[in-house]
Amino acid sequence: MSKVSRKIIKESIENVWHPCSRMDQYNDQNLIAIESGNKSWLRSVDGREYFDAISSWWVNLFGHNNPYLKKNITTQLNKIEHVMLSGMTHQPVIDLSKRLNALANMDHCFYSSDGSSAVEVALKVSYHYWRNRGQKKTKFVLIENSYHGETLGALSVTNVDIFSKNYHSLLNKNIILPNPSPKNYESEKKLKEFALESFKKAEVILNKHHKKIAGLIIEPILQCASGMNYYHPIYLKKLKALCSKLDIHLIADEIAVGFGRTGKMFACQHANIKPDIMCLSKGLSGGYLPLAATLVSKKIYQEFLNPDVEKNFLHSHSFTGNPLACSAAIATLDYFDNRLSMDKVNEKSRLFNQIMMKLGKYNIRNFFNIGMVWRFDLPETNESMNFESLAREEGLLIRPIGRCVYIMPPYTSTLSDIKFVVKVLEKIFKKLQMDIK
Ligand SMILES: Cc1ncc(COP(=O)(O)O)c(C=O)c1O
Repeated sequence: MSKVSRKIIKESIENVWHPCSRMDQYNDQNLIAIESGNKSWLRSVDGREYFDAISSWWVNLFGHNNPYLKKNITTQLNKIEHVMLSGMTHQPVIDLSKRLNALANMDHCFYSSDGSSAVEVALKVSYHYWRNRGQKKTKFVLIENSYHGETLGALSVTNVDIFSKNYHSLLNKNIILPNPSPKNYESEKKLKEFALESFKKAEVILNKHHKKIAGLIIEPILQCASGMNYYHPIYLKKLKALCSKLDIHLIADEIAVGFGRTGKMFACQHANIKPDIMCLSKGLSGGYLPLAATLVSKKIYQEFLNPDVEKNFLHSHSFTGNPLACSAAIATLDYFDNRLSMDKVNEKSRLFNQIMMKLGKYNIRNFFNIGMVWRFDLPETNESMNFESLAREEGLLIRPIGRCVYIMPPYTSTLSDIKFVVKVLEKIFKKLQMDIK
């Protein structure tokens, strides 16, 4: 390692509080100083190349340093970088809202800067809607093992102990439904049976408590942060129908899965449902700038059009609807329209899967692919920390979740990139003697 790199890492450890990190364990072996990015690759200060197999925490869709996205942001930068969105408006936020509303079949967009804030907005809007109608609905429903963010409201609808346990006494007590995703993936038939069984249990709980429930929040089709757990879309379809019947808002958290990650523009489309509220972030800006949006149905929006100030939604963030971030999001949607359509993304996913399938012969469990996500579990004997560092040594950036290793590459990745990923994984499997089933 070069002197420069060592100095940067030392200064970072001394001054920066890194997110979701064990600061006590950082050293110059496990913190990488990044200098630049190009397509699906990151380059360290030392000139080492890393394949970004996690799309920089699932945000990047079309590669780093993409000229198309940069151009739109730069054009906007030459006009206005930021202006508040209360009492003022601007073309980028209007254009983006029109396109998002049309794409998601929703009515109005409320903006914030990160996924957790989009979830906070969704929870507050849902609660406030019922309040405006004179109904006291103070509970939310979440799914076992779900993840919806780190702020206190979002954490109170998150069910991943490592993130929420420490803060239990600060969190609202909400209602948890059993997970529709089985521990082991067998057949499509088994996945469907499991989802239907889970739905029956959900039905009992929701029927019992619906009067006090404002909304149900769910990661459509794939629970990402708890280990890329897939569940059958029938669950979502039935849940939406039940929520509509019981006057419960269905809040679709598409923050991780939206913008094509699961092979549809929005994962709700697998179940052909229209949620009442939808949260978007991450891929929304192509991963270029912090941006989130909470989209609501017309019925919800109209409940806030009231001469009584208390019945209006007075929530705000300083950077709400930032023009630069909106221009990145518009460029992202343009990129889907002009360069890489969902059909093309899916074509690539099928090609990549043919290469990824090679991994099936190793001693791994629950290998699964949907859209641009591949996941498998390491056998119990294998340490995921070790796996992560072995991959880094080979220039592959991954971040296993427990024993789940996943690959979530930028959509612009090439066949040779994916061959590289498989080659590295095979090398590690052999090193860890996982080639023996
Ligand atoms: C489904 C889901 N919801 C919410 C969030 C929170 O988003 P952010 O990290 O931008 O606050 C995440 C982040 O990974 C997520 O995966």
